Amino acid sequence: MVRQRLLQRARQEFEQAFGRGARPAVAVAPGRVNLIGEHTDYNDGFVLPMAIDRHVAVAFAPRQDRVLRAHASEFGETRELSLDALERRTTSEPARRSARGGWFGYVAGVAWAMLGAGHPLHGADLAIASDLPSGAGLSSSAALEIAVARALGAVAALEWEPRRAARLAQQAEHEFAGVACGIMDQLSVALAREGCALLIDCRSLETRDVPVPETARILVFDSGVRRELTTSAYNDRRAACERVVAALQTRHAWVRALRDVDDALLAEVAASLDPVDVRRASHVIAENRRPAALADAFAGGDLERAGRLMMHSHDSLRDLYEVSSPELDALVDLAIVQPGCAGARLTGAGFGGCAIALVEAGSVERVMSSVEAGYEKGTGRTTTAFACLPSAGARVIEGS
Ligand code: GLA
Repeated sequence: MVRQRLLQRARQEFEQAFGRGARPAVAVAPGRVNLIGEHTDYNDGFVLPMAIDRHVAVAFAPRQDRVLRAHASEFGETRELSLDALERRTTSEPARRSARGGWFGYVAGVAWAMLGAGHPLHGADLAIASDLPSGAGLSSSAALEIAVARALGAVAALEWEPRRAARLAQQAEHEFAGVACGIMDQLSVALAREGCALLIDCRSLETRDVPVPETARILVFDSGVRRELTTSAYNDRRAACERVVAALQTRHAWVRALRDVDDALLAEVAASLDPVDVRRASHVIAENRRPAALADAFAGGDLERAGRLMMHSHDSLRDLYEVSSPELDALVDLAIVQPGCAGARLTGAGFGGCAIALVEAGSVERVMSSVEAGYEKGTGRTTTAFACLPSAGARVIEGS
């Protein structure tokens, strides 16, 4: 469900920024939590994200010229660029420069990737509003990218192809934000179904809707910590995985990614590798089996088992992949001792951002307030907590 208030805000911002009266259409894209399968997507593996009922909304209308103008309510800023100038560039360098201005880089990046893929774009005015915390690991950037792709596609009367849009948005993220991210965020935000998590095979991009049991709720706890080094630490993890694959390829040419590797195979080359890289690969190998296992647990309504899998995932991310933080560990430790909480873990890239907890519907308020109080007492910080529902992927809400 998209909140009416958010749609209204996007439309008001549109009117104020551009002085155009007609009630514009709005493209919306949700944020996501990842239930399990962390740091597996760029290893060609499996993930199980769930789109949530917090969104980025882009009110939009076509223009008669080839100018793309965008206004971001969060920053009170309006920026513009010429599509012709963007199209003439074979590299993203000019847009990368504009990305230093932050949010507008994502808008420019998506337009650049769409033009590069041969989509004939038209000029447009876009007003962006959001009720999704940004920079918290809930995929606010993927939501912005996909909402912009949806809006630009609608203006140019392009058919909506979520897998293609996800690939282009991922390309924008690589080129413009400098994050060598996988496909999970963009794909889940583009094509999730209401009521369901999405099991994704990140090699084939095949997906399966996994209904979330009605008795279950997902709570999000924002640690309030934002790490400056996230991008480089993320890219380092990815490089470690690639080193292990390269070592294996000298013996087994068919190995393309850690997806193809099991413990026995890893053991063959472990002695010749940096022990840190071996730990990273061990995480990925075990984590890769968890999305299907969690999907099974959900299908059987077995929240306890689902919760245990989440805990194993968190332990592995903390000890082997080393992407947790004292704050995320504190949130997880506080949540799991609460009655009615089946399990908890960090979600997304890690380092800072959010933890999630799997909780029985009747225990939501109590778990939330106990964790909030415990977090403040233990760390001196406050956590912003909310319960979220499995939501649908990007769509356009028509204007009038
Ligand atoms: C970020 C990236 C995703 C994924 C996760 C870790 O959210 O954007 O592609 O790699 O981290 O699972």
